[in-house]
Amino acid sequence: MLPADELGPAVGPLVPRAYRVRGAARETSDTVTLALQAETAAEEVGFAPGQFNMLSVFGVGEVPISISGNPGRVDLLTHTVRAVGAVTQALAAQRRGALVGVRGPYGTAWPVEAAEGSDVVIVAGGVGLAPLRPAVHRILARREKYGRIALLYGSRTPGDLLYVHDLKQWRGRMDLEVEVTVDAAAGGWRGNVGVVTTLIPRARFDPTSTVALVCGPEIMMRFTVRELQARGIPDDRMFLSMERNMKCGIGQCGHCQYGPYFVCRDGPVFRYDRIAPFFRVREI
Ligand SMILES: Cc1cc2nc3c(=O)[nH]c(=O)nc-3n(C[C@H](O)[C@H](O)[C@H](O)COP(=O)(O)OP(=O)(O)OC[C@H]3O[C@@H](n4cnc5c(N)ncnc54)[C@H](O)[C@@H]3O)c2cc1C
Ligand code: FES
Repeated sequence: MLPADELGPAVGPLVPRAYRVRGAARETSDTVTLALQAETAAEEVGFAPGQFNMLSVFGVGEVPISISGNPGRVDLLTHTVRAVGAVTQALAAQRRGALVGVRGPYGTAWPVEAAEGSDVVIVAGGVGLAPLRPAVHRILARREKYGRIALLYGSRTPGDLLYVHDLKQWRGRMDLEVEVTVDAAAGGWRGNVGVVTTLIPRARFDPTSTVALVCGPEIMMRFTVRELQARGIPDDRMFLSMERNMKCGIGQCGHCQYGPYFVCRDGPVFRYDRIAPFFRVREI
């Protein structure tokens, strides 16, 4: 038998591990949350909030998807997938018992530990709440370490809101401000209407001691940065999660280049002051 280091790419970092779908929960008309379990406990890997995995459907392809579950649980990997093209449609169609491929976790994390002692404002747009949900779990698990926490979440319509059960629970807490808004109200919605940035001026946090975590469509993040700056949060205390097309996920192919960075390796979570020159340019 060949020694492992001579086996070539079959044991290399680009080879996915097999995970079985243990649950597939429909969030919205086009978005599904998959709970995945490693075929053997030896393959269970922890992750840091903000990291992503490369998920593959055999014979279809592979895409980067953020890990959206509780970082306190290593037995289940949770991913929330919005079906927008071939691979995400195939992933969202997977049912209990199916096998999918997993590589990762990859990328940088939200600075949840560094933010201890500060207020935290979390601003999410659409499926951008997925990579932020593990950060909320981690912060709530050590709630006493933080000052005020504000979660501001916007979606297109009430029917597009993710994690309705979590939102309800979080809203019931006295130690967490949760504000939800929709671009267009429907179906008896009695909450806020307007884009998520309209929630920023009245959110309760002390800008001199706040860390901001932001994820959503790029246009939403642009306006969010502006509003957070208007509240007085310095650029080096804002963190954004960026998305670019990816192939390898491990800094080898160059597909995800963003200015001098590779999003898969140097991101997806970036401190805003480090990417500000590229972020202001519409497409890099
Ligand atoms: C770090 C990272 C984390 C991500 N996390 C999630 C997540 O948690 N849930 C989720 O649903 N999606 C997530 N995405 C986006 C997801 O990877 C893309 O939707 C997916 O690659 C599209 O592949 P496809 O074959 O289904 O569609 P394609 O046919 O490849 O593309 C369909 C449409 O989506 C656009 N698109 C393709 N790739 C991306 C991308 N990387 N970013 C933005 N638009 C893209 C295309 O331009 C096209 O308009 C993440 C992307 C990155 C880079
Ligand atoms: S996806 Fe290959 S370098 Fe980032």
